[in-house]
Amino acid sequence: MIHCDNLVKIYKVADLEVVALQGLDLHVEPGELMAIIGNSGSGKSTLLNMLGGLDRPSAGRLMVDGKDLLGMREKDLVKYKRESVGFVWQNNARNLIPYLTAQENVELPILLRGKRKRERAIELLEAVGLSHRRNNKLNQLSGGEQQRVAIAIALANHPKLLLADEPTGSVDTNMANQILDLFRQLCRDLGLTIVIVTHDPALAKKVDRVVAIRDGKTSSEIVRRKSYEQELLDQEQGIEDVQEEESHIEYAVLDQAGRLQIPASYLETIGAKEMNKVKVTVEDGKIVIMPPIKV
Ligand SMILES: Nc1ncnc2c1ncn2[C@@H]1O[C@H](COP(=O)(O)OP(=O)(O)O)[C@@H](O)[C@H]1O
Ligand SMILES: [Mg+2]
Repeated sequence: MIHCDNLVKIYKVADLEVVALQGLDLHVEPGELMAIIGNSGSGKSTLLNMLGGLDRPSAGRLMVDGKDLLGMREKDLVKYKRESVGFVWQNNARNLIPYLTAQENVELPILLRGKRKRERAIELLEAVGLSHRRNNKLNQLSGGEQQRVAIAIALANHPKLLLADEPTGSVDTNMANQILDLFRQLCRDLGLTIVIVTHDPALAKKVDRVVAIRDGKTSSEIVRRKSYEQELLDQEQGIEDVQEEESHIEYAVLDQAGRLQIPASYLETIGAKEMNKVKVTVEDGKIVIMPPIKV
């Protein structure tokens, strides 16, 4: 669904250049629910905006659903934005109107008319588990319910790809879990591909794959040994819970040139943190990294 190769985004502000993405690689399978995690300023929102066609990369390759977003004409990019992607933001006030009901809010962006418009809105509210609250004004709904309305709107144009920027940023843990459950259900039932951006490591434990970005580059990938869905099933059947360390495997990302980012804590352990080179050898079928020999 998504192929990013060596993606670069440079923002020009007055005379300054900010390199927000510096050669980022990312691949996402159709129907996958995955998360992108990283500190504030690491380039998460920039990446999401590129994926959603809201802004264009400066260089590299970006294919979404077989479409080349870098080479695409402006007109086609507008069409892509409108027909292929749905967006969910942390601050849903951005696309919701407080004095309208949940249903009226969902109806607004729907291009159908009359009865068909109403039916589609109700269908969408049902998909997000909110049909019982459809006649409530938005300001009578909880934060989590408002977020569901925002998700219903994001689904209005039948997107294949749903992009969520810190979707659980302003709700409590319980609500965050419910929103994730909803995402999982949407993936399963509608075959949607969902990319969630977050800085919350707790959320990362609940998806099957998490890609970490640091300084505008993918640095590591954390993969579940067992899918979260399977784990929930096992828990229900009383099968013993595995330890946190065992439920996930973390991989360092290897780029096309063979570069890899070694966690700072590992370098510290071998006393190579302040060094700009290390000794790399192959021993017994393993690659061994050692601090330089002191002279
Ligand atoms: N429109 C913009 N103009 C200039 N710089 C920007 C713009 N958007 C983001 N940046 C810069 O790009 C970097 C990455 O930002 P962002 O993608 O928002 O990170 P995150 O979402 O991970 O917090 C930051 O240094 C930020 O200041
Ligand atoms: Mg952001």
